[in-house]
This record gives sequence, C-alpha cells and structure tokens, in this order.
Amino acid sequence: MNSLPAEVDGKVTGTIGRDDALMMLRENLDNENLVRHCLATEAVMRRLAEDRGEDPELWGLTGLLHDLDYEMTGDDYSRHGLVAAEMLEGLLPEENLRAIKAHNAENNGVRRESVLDHLLAAGESITGLIVAVALVYPERTLEPVRPKSVAKRMRMTAFARSVPRETIMECEEAGYDLQTFVGLALEAMKGIAGEIGL
Ligand SMILES: [Fe+2]
Repeated sequence: MNSLPAEVDGKVTGTIGRDDALMMLRENLDNENLVRHCLATEAVMRRLAEDRGEDPELWGLTGLLHDLDYEMTGDDYSRHGLVAAEMLEGLLPEENLRAIKAHNAENNGVRRESVLDHLLAAGESITGLIVAVALVYPERTLEPVRPKSVAKRMRMTAFARSVPRETIMECEEAGYDLQTFVGLALEAMKGIAGEIGL
C-alpha cells in the first residue's frame, strides 16, 4: 500500500501495510484505551504529514505503532521504544524507527533530533491533553472542544498533570506555535472521534 523507496539506509525491505500494522498493534496491546491513544496519534501524525508535504501513510504508521511495546516492556521504561523499533525492523524506514525510540528519549537516552522525532513526541503527548479536555465537558466528546480551550488547559499545570507540557512545546522545533499545533491535532482527532470513543 506504500510506494516508498526500498533503500532508506539500505535497511528497509518493505513498509508494513496499515491493516497488518493495526493487527500487530492489537496482538500486542490489550488495553483498549492504549489502542485508542495509538489511533489518535496516528491521526495526528497523518494530519501533520499532510500539512508539511510529508508521507501521511508513513507518518501515520509511525504514530500508530509508536507504543507497540508498551505492555511488553511494562515497568521497564528504559526499554520502551527500543523493543518496538526492534520488532519493526525492516517494516518501517530507519528514520521512523528512530522517532519511535526517541519519543521515549527521557527514559532510553535516544535523543530527539529530527522534525519527525519532535513531532511524534509532541503529537502523542497532545492527544492526552485533548482527551482530558474533552472529558471535562458534559458531553464527554471532542465536539465542543476548541483549540483555545486546550491551550488554556495547557497552562493549568495541575490539570492532566501527567501530560508533559515541555514535550508538547517541542512542536516549536517544527515551526508550529501551540495554537496552530493544537488546531491540527484537534481537527485530526475529530476526524476519527467515533473510533476513539469521543
Ligand atoms: Fe504514546
């Protein structure tokens, strides 16, 4: 389903198709909320790729699969991302595997360097804040959520405390101000609201 060059870093043998990627994800994750988080991250990464003239399929797969090893690595946070990249060797290009490792830079030491590295980390983090904001409304859906309300909650450090604000702000490394970044992420998530139960 993808027409990527087969020779990125001389290591890619083919890119996994979306159906296989989702099957692989479901085989490895039991927690439905985690699967939804991955679907939300996929949608955000697709939208960001479209915005930047990158490959939406490939960026989407990177988002979809970034937490593939989350349950497998469990409490051993230092392995999270590294194991996923190993499992995906040959199924995604090296730069995408690197982004998957680096989204957990804080625990595994793989530094975020590329725009993709920063956007995967910022993108997966913003999904958590957006979900938390949606749950504030009586409807508990994304429908009434506006970029402004997300930006406001971003500044309330006691709200959704586990969402790392500094990581979200890495969107600036890719040239986005917070409002624009939130707008794109929110739009992407609203596009798959039914699938993620919101
Ligand atoms: Fe994640």
